[in-house]
Amino acid sequence: MDSLEQLISLAQQDFRNVSDPVSLENAKAKYLGKTGLITAEMKMLGKMAPEERKARGAVINAAKSKIEAALNERRQELANEKLQAKLNAEAIDVTLPGRGRGKGGIHPVMRTWERIERIFGSIGFDVADGPEIETDWTNFTALNSPENHPARSMQDTFYIEGKDTQGKPLLLRTHTSPMQVRYARSHELPVKVIAPGRTYRVDSDATHSPMFHQVEGLWIDRDISFADLKGVYLNFVQAFFETDNLQVRFRPSYFPFTEPSAEIDIAFGSGPLKGKWLEVSGAGQVHPNVLKNMGIDSEQYIGFAFGSGLERLTMLRYGINDLRLFYEGDLRFLKQFN
Ligand code: DAH
Repeated sequence: MDSLEQLISLAQQDFRNVSDPVSLENAKAKYLGKTGLITAEMKMLGKMAPEERKARGAVINAAKSKIEAALNERRQELANEKLQAKLNAEAIDVTLPGRGRGKGGIHPVMRTWERIERIFGSIGFDVADGPEIETDWTNFTALNSPENHPARSMQDTFYIEGKDTQGKPLLLRTHTSPMQVRYARSHELPVKVIAPGRTYRVDSDATHSPMFHQVEGLWIDRDISFADLKGVYLNFVQAFFETDNLQVRFRPSYFPFTEPSAEIDIAFGSGPLKGKWLEVSGAGQVHPNVLKNMGIDSEQYIGFAFGSGLERLTMLRYGINDLRLFYEGDLRFLKQFN
C-alpha cells in the first residue's frame, strides 16, 4: 500500500478510536497540524522536480481531503453522541408517579365568610355582592354622614384617582354599609339580605388592618323591631360558634345611619385573651334619613342593620390574638385551619 493510503487508513482508525472532541482535535494535529504527517509530505514537494511535484501534489491533496472528510464525519458523530446523552439524561418518564402536590386550603377568614353565608342563608337572607370602589354618596352621604360631618372622621379613607358623576373623588369603601343603600334601592320590599365583602381603612394594629372583611346585614319590613335584631344576631353567633354558652353584650353606641345604635361585643372563650371582650359588630335601627335615601317611606317601613368584622369573628372562634397573622401568609399558621 502506498504510504499515503496507509496514512489515510491510520487517520481513519485514530479518529474512530477517540471518544471525545478534545482527543479528536489532538488526533487531527497528528496528520494535519503544522508538524503533522500530511504537512510533512507537503513540505517534501519543494525538493521535487516540477512535473513530479504536480502529480505528487495532487495525490497528497486528495489524501488530505479524505482525512478531513473522516475528521468531519467523526466530529459530527461525537456531537450527535453528546446530544443523545444529554437527551437521555434529561428524558422525562411520563409513566413515573407524580412527586405529590401540596394540598391547598381555605383561608380561615374565607371559612368564616362561607359559614356566615350558610347560616344566614338558612334563615332566609339573600346574599349580595357589591363594589369595593365606592362613591362618596353611597359610602357616606346616603348613610346620613353629610360632608364635613364629624362622624366621617371615624373612618379614615383611601381615596383613588377618578371622580364620580357628581365630581366627587372615588374611594375604597370603608365599610359594607353602602350595600344597604345599593340593595334596598334596587329590590322590592321587604328586604332581607347580607352582603359580605372587603373593606378598607387607613388603620393598622393587632385588631385593625388596612384591608379587612365585613358582613352587612339588612332587614326591612313593616313590623320588625330591635328585638328581631337581637334575636337574629344571637341566633347567628350561637350557630357560628356552635354553642349557646356565649358571652354577648349589646352596648348603646352611635352611628350616623342608625337610631338607636348598638355595638355588639363577644368575650373570648379560649386562647391568650380568654374572657376579654372584643367588639365584633355595629348594629341598630335604620335611620329614617337613610330609609329616605333608599326611596322607602319611613312611616310605613322599619329596618335594622348590622355590620360585623369577619376577622374578629374568626379571632374569637379560634382564640387568635393578632389579626395581622391572617395576612402574613405563614403556612405554619394557616395550616392549622385545614
Ligand atoms: N358600618 C359600621 C362600621 O363599619 C358598622 C355598622 C354599624 C354597620 C351599625 C351597620 C350598623 O349596619 O347598623 O363601623
